[in-house]
Amino acid sequence: MSRHIRVWDLPLRLFHWSLVVAVVVAMASGLKGNMQVHEKAGLAIVTLLAFRLAWLFLGSTYARIGALLGALPRIPDYLRGQWRKPGHNPLGVLSMAGMLLLLGWQSVSGLFTNDDSVFTGPLYRLISKADSLWVTGLHRQTFWLLVGLIGLHVATVLFYWLVKKNNLIKPMITGTTEAINDEYKPATGGRWLAFVLSCVLAGGALYVAQGSWVPKPPPPAPAAALPF
Ligand code: HEM
Repeated sequence: MSRHIRVWDLPLRLFHWSLVVAVVVAMASGLKGNMQVHEKAGLAIVTLLAFRLAWLFLGSTYARIGALLGALPRIPDYLRGQWRKPGHNPLGVLSMAGMLLLLGWQSVSGLFTNDDSVFTGPLYRLISKADSLWVTGLHRQTFWLLVGLIGLHVATVLFYWLVKKNNLIKPMITGTTEAINDEYKPATGGRWLAFVLSCVLAGGALYVAQGSWVPKPPPPAPAAALPF
């Protein structure tokens, strides 16, 4: 009889699917030039990434940094078909790290952008206008890199499903996977207290990112009274 074990905890799954929605909204609104929505989606991504950062340390077994770093040296084994463990496979760790780092850069850099007209990011005032324009240029260029990486991610997941007959999407929805050997141990940890703490840290990141704490520039001096 097949045995199913817990592999992805609920907060990690909620993080993943919320990230998908936030990234799609950020990309669509950015392309359409709807900066009000774009800024909100960017702030949502910063918050989600801060949550995931905390979850690297507080989450359950296969979401933790130890499991991810432990998989990396096994890339040669994986390529020889000798990787049979639950959680991210060694190449999956690379793709995940690439996406998270790039999304981190993209969402944080967005906070410092300006469109040289009406829009300014919430932390724009912390740097000079010249630096902000430079960051804005990089923010625009990174967009296509991100599109490529996400496209590769989705294509890989579909390849596993349709060609290798290994459905990775189902565990990302249900949280469980079929144990095919004794190395398939159920994930432990990542319970309520860890979740609340990670949410508090993510809330702190949102507070910093939305910029209400940045001192406002002094109002322009009143024009000198004309003699007549
Ligand atoms: C904007 C689009 C997407 C982004 C930014 C994204 C990002 C990510 C990230 C960061 C992870 C690692 C999860 C973690 O441990 O934190 C991941 C895993 C995963 N994603 Fe996505 N994802 C996207 C779209 C999708 C879509 C559309 C699907 C389904 C067709 C999908 C299926 C999966 C699956 C199955 C995994 C787990 C892979 C494994 O078992 O190692 N993703 N994704």
